[in-house]
Amino acid sequence: MQKNIKANKIAVIGAGNVGATTVYALMAQGIGSEIVLIDINQDKAEGEAMDLMHGSSFVKPVDIYAGDYEDLSDAHLIIITAGAAQKTGETRLDLIKKNTEIFKNIIPSITEYNQDAILLIVTNPVDILTYLSWKLSDYPAKRVIGSGTVLDSSRFKSLLSKHCGVAANNVHGYIIGEHGDSEVAVWSLTNIAGTKLKNYCPICDKNCHTNELEKIAENVKNSAYEIIDKKGSTFYAVSLAAARIARAILRDENAVLTVSSLMKGYYGINDLSLSLPTVVNSTGIEKVLDLPLAESEEKDLKKSAAQLKSNLKKLDI
Ligand code: LAC
Repeated sequence: MQKNIKANKIAVIGAGNVGATTVYALMAQGIGSEIVLIDINQDKAEGEAMDLMHGSSFVKPVDIYAGDYEDLSDAHLIIITAGAAQKTGETRLDLIKKNTEIFKNIIPSITEYNQDAILLIVTNPVDILTYLSWKLSDYPAKRVIGSGTVLDSSRFKSLLSKHCGVAANNVHGYIIGEHGDSEVAVWSLTNIAGTKLKNYCPICDKNCHTNELEKIAENVKNSAYEIIDKKGSTFYAVSLAAARIARAILRDENAVLTVSSLMKGYYGINDLSLSLPTVVNSTGIEKVLDLPLAESEEKDLKKSAAQLKSNLKKLDI
């Protein structure tokens, strides 16, 4: 780590619902001892920082304040949540134009003050913006991470947990590919108590059918649409996903998380960002796991990559 970097300092850019809730998740879990919140609306950042900081006596010691880009210079982790959010009727990919323009301003402002941090992109479409951030920042790819399908994998575990009656952290499974409509559920690697789902199902007394499981993957994919229809936006679970990734980085965990990162030939996929199970530690991406997938899963992953590639081509970079 560079000398000027504070190992436990996190910056969050964007003080909207996702940014503010991410800081809340970080402070509640004692992740980071100094957190700076930055927003073009300074009052909003200040108000959120004050509101959060007033709870500091209930959590591990932490300093939370509103700042500006200069305050990034010694941050270990910079989380970007700024940008337009998905509205009813919009897909994540519909946000490309608006959020690309925003990132073209944000990324150079970051690199002006810090070339050594890890960037964690949360704004959608997260895979496109992760790739764009890598291109614009000139950071090594291992230090440009997207929250990717960490959230979707959690939704998957959470729905399977309810369905199977087993705690979510005892359910292991991954959603890979785009964080969006072309994402892929990796059923072949899904397991409960170390037992592949196809072997677990016969010993469970629920007698459910394969199509009920397929419905779970569909529900995972459509969760955000459903939540946006009901309450206007999603922010709690995605913020917990961002905090989970932050913890893996600050605590140098080597945690396996389905973050989005630059593809370097995995399953023949190159030069775009998407999610695969990945080892994450204090240096960023330690290793992308090229796990054996079922034939149909690999095919769907390649389709997801092709979908992202065609959208990347529309970017003027
Ligand atoms: C969701 C948003 C964060 O899936 O994309 O909830």
